[in-house]
Amino acid sequence: MSFAPFDWIDAEARRRAAAGLVRTLRPRDAEPELLDLASNDYLGLTRHPEVTAASAAAAHRWGAGATGSRLVTGSTALHAELERELAAFCGFEAALVLSSGYAANLAALTALSGRGSLIVSDAGNHASIVDGCRLSRAETAVAPHADPDAVAKAFGAHDGRSLAVTDSVFSVDGDAAPLPALAEVCRSANAALLVDDAHGLGVLGDGGRGALAAAGLAGGDGVVATLTLSKSLGSQGGAVLGPARVIDHLVNTARTFIFDTGLAPAAVGGALGALGVLRREPERAARAREVATALYTRLTAAGLEAVRPDAAVVSVRAPSADAAVRWAADCRTAGMAVGCFRPPSVPDGISRLRLTARADLTEEQITAAVAMIAATAPRQTDADVS
Ligand SMILES: Cc1ncc(COP(=O)(O)O)c(C=O)c1O
Repeated sequence: MSFAPFDWIDAEARRRAAAGLVRTLRPRDAEPELLDLASNDYLGLTRHPEVTAASAAAAHRWGAGATGSRLVTGSTALHAELERELAAFCGFEAALVLSSGYAANLAALTALSGRGSLIVSDAGNHASIVDGCRLSRAETAVAPHADPDAVAKAFGAHDGRSLAVTDSVFSVDGDAAPLPALAEVCRSANAALLVDDAHGLGVLGDGGRGALAAAGLAGGDGVVATLTLSKSLGSQGGAVLGPARVIDHLVNTARTFIFDTGLAPAAVGGALGALGVLRREPERAARAREVATALYTRLTAAGLEAVRPDAAVVSVRAPSADAAVRWAADCRTAGMAVGCFRPPSVPDGISRLRLTARADLTEEQITAAVAMIAATAPRQTDADVS
């Protein structure tokens, strides 16, 4: 028998190519040449001079890397300051910074559940939540999307630790979770509520304090939030926010916190710089929502099928994965970067263009973006199966 342990990879690659699902890396230019509606830089802060200066100053002072796990040498005064700032800004008792939002979801889910516990997870949740559920060894019930009654039913008469988990704003369609109703269901079931506010922080709530602040749930006893610092805050990293005893528990038990190098000081400094800008310029949050509404309204008026945005993500339906890829490529040729979501990143199998409504887009850029998307839209004849 010949030695060919990876031949199966070629077969998988052919299958992906046939389905129009090949992914490629495309290094971007340092100076953006394209109109950017693809990144998650919702508030336009990643290149803000105060944010980049804070990031560089942190690297100069503390080094390029954290040098170790947070529990060994990887905690600096800057990490502690960011934790205080995030907790205070979003209205929670305490916070814990991790190396990514992905790691934050794994940490919260694994540390707050475990064998014998029940997690009820929304069908539209982000991949990092799905993976956190798998890693937790808890029983996981996947509830239909945005359906608090289904969550209540899934809790049923479960005896023991239980937790509902949801994105605050779903990354694919940009719709918001019914947080007040979910909180009520959790209260009745004596269950914790874990909300991933990756797409709510900086966009929803007073001055961008997030979806939980907007719903009046921030700081609640049974409520925990996870964040990424890589979207509205223009940096990198993640955090878990909640009651102090929950955060202490994570410090002692969350494996993606304990066995991972601390977040790099430059990222911590950048996030602190961005929080400073957001505190001073709270109108950025409302502007991001306004741009989203403008994009949605004008795209719909142009005959395209879009989902009414609850935050700063605007999702436009494409007839198929192939058509979505071609559409995104045509937008690029026309001078604009847009996101392209297709299976397996979309739970319902429907491919979409995903637009980011950045707070710093000008009226002219919004008009140009809508014109480019409409001009490159697939025609009806492209409507093959998704
Ligand atoms: C809803 C959601 N949660 C978590 C993450 C992961 O965050 P990070 O990129 O910081 O790992 C993302 C995005 O990447 C996200 O969209």
